[in-house]
Amino acid sequence: MDHPRIVIFDTTLRDGEQSPGCSMNVSEKLHLAQQLDRLGVDVIEAGFPIASDGDFEAVQRIAATIRRPIIAGLARACTGDVDRAWQALQGAAHPRIHVFLATSDIHLKYKLRISREKCLEQARDAVRHAKLLCSDVEFSPEDATRTDVPFLCQVVEAVIAAGATTVNIPDTVGYTMPEEYGQLIQTLREKVAGIDKVTISTHCHNDLGLAVANSLAGVQNGARQVECTINGIGERAGNASLEEIVMAMRVRPDRYAYQTAVVSEHLYASSQMLSEITRVPVQPNKAITGRNAFAHEAGIHQDGMLKNPLTYEIMTPQSVGVPDSRLVLGKHSGRHALALRCEQLGHQFERRELDEVYRRFVVLADRIKKVQDSHLLELIQDVVSGAVGPDDVTGQNKKFPPTAVALPFPRAISAVAGANGNANSDDTHPAQISGSAGQEQARPGAAPANWFGRAPVPLADHHNEQEDYLWGV
Ligand code: KIV
Ligand code: ZN
Repeated sequence: MDHPRIVIFDTTLRDGEQSPGCSMNVSEKLHLAQQLDRLGVDVIEAGFPIASDGDFEAVQRIAATIRRPIIAGLARACTGDVDRAWQALQGAAHPRIHVFLATSDIHLKYKLRISREKCLEQARDAVRHAKLLCSDVEFSPEDATRTDVPFLCQVVEAVIAAGATTVNIPDTVGYTMPEEYGQLIQTLREKVAGIDKVTISTHCHNDLGLAVANSLAGVQNGARQVECTINGIGERAGNASLEEIVMAMRVRPDRYAYQTAVVSEHLYASSQMLSEITRVPVQPNKAITGRNAFAHEAGIHQDGMLKNPLTYEIMTPQSVGVPDSRLVLGKHSGRHALALRCEQLGHQFERRELDEVYRRFVVLADRIKKVQDSHLLELIQDVVSGAVGPDDVTGQNKKFPPTAVALPFPRAISAVAGANGNANSDDTHPAQISGSAGQEQARPGAAPANWFGRAPVPLADHHNEQEDYLWGV
């Protein structure tokens, strides 16, 4: 397949982190950046270094630690910001300075109080300065979709001449419509000298629920980078959701014949990890990663799913890393199964840590029979924080019920289709009927600073453990 390659620019740690309730500390950002690296994103926008010392440190640590993707730091169009971003990016293997300046008349008049001429000059000067420091420079005309189009073309042409290598076209306020945004990208390609030498990028906000549709329209009209966030978090209604963009291309190559380097099987773990760190739950009906995304409750749907999952599922849960609901974790499960489920939930453990998680898991499983993901997440947090375990005989630990398990979400039946006697099916993925063990939300709980930043041990290292696990009870 020779489909055009789309660069996935993840801004969860910058634009996403700016959304209410989603702020993260340095260790949390580093931990998530490691997951984004595993996920296969091309660019990680690690923060806005001038904004705070914490942001500076986060960019600096991510730049020094994560070697494969490009690490971007945001800067307003002024020397001080650009220098600070560059300082934070010093250790990066592949640094990018991302300069932005608003270009719409509304922003120029009321926010910046500068003329169009001044705006043009400032944008050009900032990019020129950034280019002296770093070969990879992105420019974003903020509020591009409400900017006078001929003026936008003028600014874009000027920053390309000054050395920008990526030109991002933000729909900052989520105002544009798919055809309109596609047309704007097309117009830029027709009117701007030098545009064919740079990468055009989309950056769409979701105020009208169109961020993903607009981004895809941009791609169809020649954009080759998409800026997006895990779970679509971001200012106000959020940014375009990374998982939705990636899966739209993967599920509908007939319409969107593009490829990304994202390993879609890591999408669910990435979503869970973000939710766990920020303690902002994923909307249950969130496409791709919500707990209902692969759940079926209506009788007709259940019937169809049991006959053939293709009736009501357009992608397999496994393709996005949703744990298989048939795989029940109980007292007979072994380290391998436990390690795999932990990994699916975004936690990779060193050998000794896994031993401790396993020890507590066995005690818990003996007590509650079936260990749900929410219990496991709670147990993991207890282990990493050094809290007492479920075998605490003092009775201090009240987190786990002694016998019956109170599930945080309503469940109806649990059933399996596909591989389970579905003779007509050519697709053997399991159906998850009305919720699955793997679709639990992360429980809120403080994650201690020392939890983050460990070197994970690949699952393969556990293979010589006693593999006495029993899946699919
Ligand atoms: O939405 C926006 O305009 C931005 C820019 C800084 C790229 O986030
Ligand atoms: Zn934005």
